[in-house]
Amino acid sequence: MRQQIVAGNWKMNTTLEEGIELTKAMLGKIESPRGLVVVAPPLTHLHGIGKLLQPHPQFHLAAQNCHQEPKGAFTGEVSASMLVSVGASFVIIGHSERRQYFMEDNITLSAKVNAALSQGLKPIFCCGEPLDNREAENQVEYVCEQIKAGLFHLPEEAFKQVVIAYEPIWAIGTGRTASSQQAQDMHQALREYISKKYGGSIADDTSILYGGSCNAQNAAEIFAQPDVDGGLIGGASLKSDDFAAIISALK
Ligand code: 13P
Repeated sequence: MRQQIVAGNWKMNTTLEEGIELTKAMLGKIESPRGLVVVAPPLTHLHGIGKLLQPHPQFHLAAQNCHQEPKGAFTGEVSASMLVSVGASFVIIGHSERRQYFMEDNITLSAKVNAALSQGLKPIFCCGEPLDNREAENQVEYVCEQIKAGLFHLPEEAFKQVVIAYEPIWAIGTGRTASSQQAQDMHQALREYISKKYGGSIADDTSILYGGSCNAQNAAEIFAQPDVDGGLIGGASLKSDDFAAIISALK
């Protein structure tokens, strides 16, 4: 059975103090989540927030990025083993903002996936099409290509550790969410694509999250879709009430 997951990607928001307050408020409002809750604060907060999450087995710590090399002269970068050493168990890889602003290409991203897996970190691998591709109606081909380039080099056992997040770029931070049908159609297409490569059982067990203007109002309808296994939440994860409501929308 695949896991239902809600992950909060705080992006570059909150001071450490604000992040701690947010985490405490969130923990106070979410009693027994129906799935896993993953929190991805900024790098500087990982250790402190990880300690707050530690007594809560359904809450997991994620980083928003990692470097592909294990160590060395890469000023400003952080390795997968460093993330594990501060308590992270997931890492977001290939977010569209990393692809767009930091020029992360498919070769780099597949190397990051390998680096994460080699340390036991589960990648939350992001994919999603720009508006142009949605309008040209070739979004499925576009997103499948991202999945193939980033993940299909993995052997079965490694692929099973990966969570996929479908985040259409036109829906991120825009208030324009994909309709629940658009999300379902893409998730179903991705599951079929994974099935062709890894077989039906692995495809069925792969968690595919939706991200992009997912909020307390629309989460339940999106999560209710059969191939949507939760969400990767940006803006709404910064408000404890909204994040708690989104988590309670898990099926
Ligand atoms: P928003 O929820 O703010 O649209 O961001 C989605 C996202 O990019 C999560 O990674």
